Parts: sequence; C-alpha cells; structure tokens
Amino acid sequence: MSAVETTLVVIKPDAVHRRLVGHVIQRFEQRGLQIRAMKMLHLSEADARELYSVHEGKEFYEPLVAFATSGPVVAMMLSGPHAIDVVRDMMGPTFGPEAPAGSIRGDFGLSRRFNIVHSSDSAESLACEMPVFFSESDVLDYAMPDDAWLAPPEERAP
Ligand code: CMP
Repeated sequence: MSAVETTLVVIKPDAVHRRLVGHVIQRFEQRGLQIRAMKMLHLSEADARELYSVHEGKEFYEPLVAFATSGPVVAMMLSGPHAIDVVRDMMGPTFGPEAPAGSIRGDFGLSRRFNIVHSSDSAESLACEMPVFFSESDVLDYAMPDDAWLAPPEERAP
C-alpha cells in the first residue's frame, strides 16, 4: 500500500532569481505529484526565523534567514503516494556538491546554502512549517484524470 501524503515545497530565492521555477515545478508534475496549493511570496524575517527555528543557534542560521528573505519564494503543497519521502529524494542531499546528478539540487546548483528547494522532512515538520505559508482551506481537493495511471486506487489507501 502507498499512502497518499501531502507535503510542503518551497522554491527558494536563488531559484527564483535564476529563473528555475518552471524547471523545478515541472519535475514534480512529471513525477506524478499533484499541486494542491501554490503561491509566490516574500517571507518576512519573523516567518523565516519560524520556518528554520530548528537551526537557531547554528553558525549558518543568520545567513540562512538573510537568504530566505532576500527575494520571493514559491511555496507549494504537493500530494501523491509517499509524497514526503518522494520529494526529499527528488531534491537530493542538502548540499549541492554532494547531491547526485539527476536530483534537483544535483542538477541545478553547487552551493550548500543556496540549494534551490526546501521541503518538509516529516509529518511533524509539515505541521510546523505549513502554517507559515498556507491554511488548510488553501489546499484544494480536486481529481486528476490520470491518477489511475500514476498509482491505481489500491495503492492510494490512507
Ligand atoms: P534546507 O533543506 O532548506 O534546510 C535548512 C537550510 O539551511 C538548508 O536547506 C540550507 O539552505 C541551509 N544550510 C544547512 N546547513 C548549512 C551549512 N552548513 N552551511 C550553509 N547553509 C546551510
């Protein structure tokens, strides 16, 4: 059984400034993930601190907050079987130089900080991170006509 999950993805300011937004979204769509919500916004400093609060006190925290607020981001809620792990796998390891070719970070960057995308790493992180960007009512519920090809109903049980 493959439980359908929803996860948060944030396309970071480096990718927006480098005109990579469409390339990143295309990868998620062609994998079969469904876009349930999407918005472009400029994170406030308070929201960036909240989003990255688990890293507070680390030496990269202040530069990370500065980076996250340096320009607009594109936030999305994506759904699909095992979406949390599938998205993490598609992004690749955190640091660009360590990310394999074929992963988003491995194909689009070489930086440790400017690493193109962020996604929630667990249901617990999602619960903390999603309210920075979306309310439950922002997440649209609609059918995709190709669902049965991407994962048949018996693979979609909760
Ligand atoms: P992300 O997956 O969004 O989670 C935390 C972010 O902090 C990470 O991606 C990088 O952008 C950044 N980060 C984590 N570790 C480091 C580091 N050692 N040096 C610089 N930036 C880092």
